Amino acid sequence: MQHPTRSGLAHHWSLDENCVFLNHGSFGATPVEIQKEQRTWQQKLEHEPVRFYEDLAMGFMEATRSALAGFVHCDPDDLALVENATTGVNTILRSLTFNEGDEILVPDHAYQACRNAIDFVAERWGAVVVTVNIPFPIDEPSTVIDLIMAGVSERTVLAMIDTVTSPTGLLMPFERLVELLEGKGVSVLLDAAHGIGMIPLHLDEMGASYTTSNCHKWLCAPKGSAFLHVRKDHQEKIHPLTISHGMTFPLGDTTRFRHEFDWTGTRDISAWCSIPATIDCMAEMIDGGWPAIMQHNHDLAMKGREILCDRLGIEAPCPESMISCIATMMLPPGELGGIPLHEPDPLHSVLQEKYGIQVPVWSWDSPKGRYFRISAQLYNHEDEYHYLAEALATELGL
Ligand SMILES: Cc1ncc(COP(=O)(O)O)c(C=O)c1O
Repeated sequence: MQHPTRSGLAHHWSLDENCVFLNHGSFGATPVEIQKEQRTWQQKLEHEPVRFYEDLAMGFMEATRSALAGFVHCDPDDLALVENATTGVNTILRSLTFNEGDEILVPDHAYQACRNAIDFVAERWGAVVVTVNIPFPIDEPSTVIDLIMAGVSERTVLAMIDTVTSPTGLLMPFERLVELLEGKGVSVLLDAAHGIGMIPLHLDEMGASYTTSNCHKWLCAPKGSAFLHVRKDHQEKIHPLTISHGMTFPLGDTTRFRHEFDWTGTRDISAWCSIPATIDCMAEMIDGGWPAIMQHNHDLAMKGREILCDRLGIEAPCPESMISCIATMMLPPGELGGIPLHEPDPLHSVLQEKYGIQVPVWSWDSPKGRYFRISAQLYNHEDEYHYLAEALATELGL
């Protein structure tokens, strides 16, 4: 099979030319210019470490928070810079206190690492985890709303909702869910790991209690860059996972929340410092900037899904309104199912080794089947989905 055409923008990334990279969703990928930007920050740090940390770092982090706040429409003072969404979720869960019997609501499509954190905390406090089963395939967003709201009881205190689910790639009706849940007095922890750079976020208007989002995924910032947004009325009870000097710094004209999150010990802040340049660098790649990037990636994910469904003879499992820039599909029935999560799927290895394709393939129980998920980013080209479709058709004997 002939290797597919690359996108005209692929040269901005350092991705292996021999790899058909269709998995932006897992860890993102950072443009070369931003990799250089990060190195510049590291050099600045090493040029004079004491001056960097004691005199300059706070100002740099403030510039990053301001750039982020402009992007996700919130007060920069309500943002904390964290390494990743897992840390963001843990920070909230491990700061909160629960009464025995309190209920924490979570859909079964939640990211397992975050679900683990919920289970850990619930067990510690004697809280109850209520799992809401979301069907897949799914007909419309209102199905999610009805099922989640039906899971709310008088004891529900917290709900963890995804913007876009990891296993099933579903764009959730998260804004409406936040409105309904918060309206009922249920705090929402929005797992927007797939969020910034992928879909528009208006945090203040939305009003979720807590939101965490990865900048290293769809914003394409360096790895280890994410934010946590905490609504002002909750900030007093939320502490970083690492308690440090910030706990006792004289308050001055800032908040304890700011002090605590801005200093959690010596660490490499170069990924966060690179965020303002990342926002600009990506926006300059295509006419129309970020709105055009999001639209382009959505359209390409839809096109890719159509190509794959047509070639493999499978149904699209959700409407377009539930697709952002990733799309999960079920492999044709009769294929090997039941391969436990965390064990490499042989098909993934075959795609990687025989065809040079990087795409996740796994099995899952809800419902039982074998799935794969495509991503679409500026460096991808329509041809790459045709190439994947042909490879899958060959391997599955279609
Ligand atoms: C929905 C969701 N939540 C959380 C995460 C965790 O992200 P990280 O590993 O950057 O903490 C992911 C990663 O793919 C995800 O998809």
